Amino acid sequence: MKPFLFVTDLDNTYVGDDIALATLQQQLTQHRQHYGSKMVYATGRSPSLYRQLKAEKGLLTPDALICSVGSEIYFDDASTQPDPQWSALLAPGWDRARIVSIAQTISELTRQPESEQRPFKVSFHLHHPQAEAIIAQLNANLQANNINAKIIFSGGQDIDILPANGNKGLAVQFLQQHWHIEAAHTVACGDSGNDIALLSIPETYGIIVGNARDELLYWHHHNSSSQRYQAHAHYAAGILEGLTHWGFL
Ligand code: GLC
Ligand code: MG
Repeated sequence: MKPFLFVTDLDNTYVGDDIALATLQQQLTQHRQHYGSKMVYATGRSPSLYRQLKAEKGLLTPDALICSVGSEIYFDDASTQPDPQWSALLAPGWDRARIVSIAQTISELTRQPESEQRPFKVSFHLHHPQAEAIIAQLNANLQANNINAKIIFSGGQDIDILPANGNKGLAVQFLQQHWHIEAAHTVACGDSGNDIALLSIPETYGIIVGNARDELLYWHHHNSSSQRYQAHAHYAAGILEGLTHWGFL
């Protein structure tokens, strides 16, 4: 067995089945102790909502934490200061106030709670049968204003607007470079739209858990890759199935 970089989304991927999670955490702990493998959580949550989940579910302390859909990186998950190098890469051209005012003209978008509005992330809920058309309109409005940002749709209801060069996948590539870990020694796991970037990292192995959302499965089926495995089992049991499939465990 060799060390590897284990990256996982939290809600409905790592977290969702407490019994399977306990088994997975035990195996990851052993791997970290024996081989020096590293763990990273890549979540859409803000640091405060992450800390709530960590306490509630007894999550292991990761080697780094990617929060707010890839727009913040913390090497210490208790810190309130995101990595300044990563923030500096996202800042050029990002005009948060203009994005908020453009998005507010679309009445179907309702603002998420203040805790989820972050320096490099503007978030809404969208519950609508024509969600795709509304997203296309938002995209057109941003482009018409020369805003270089991207829209990420997750869980059939969440809209995140992020800097063009900020997402979970790019944040993981930043960490791969930081730690000198090869992409081929990395595995990333996810269940929803904001994990598409995580599951598109070149040469990195991917695991889609069995309970994945439609928006992720649609993308997967239209962009299939021999490096991505769709597990049958759900949540942490799906991760265990995938890690065994790829020979990491
Ligand atoms: C988490 C965040 C939310 C975001 C969603 C999808 O639930 O709290 O702000 O929209 O993930 O990325
Ligand atoms: Mg998720």
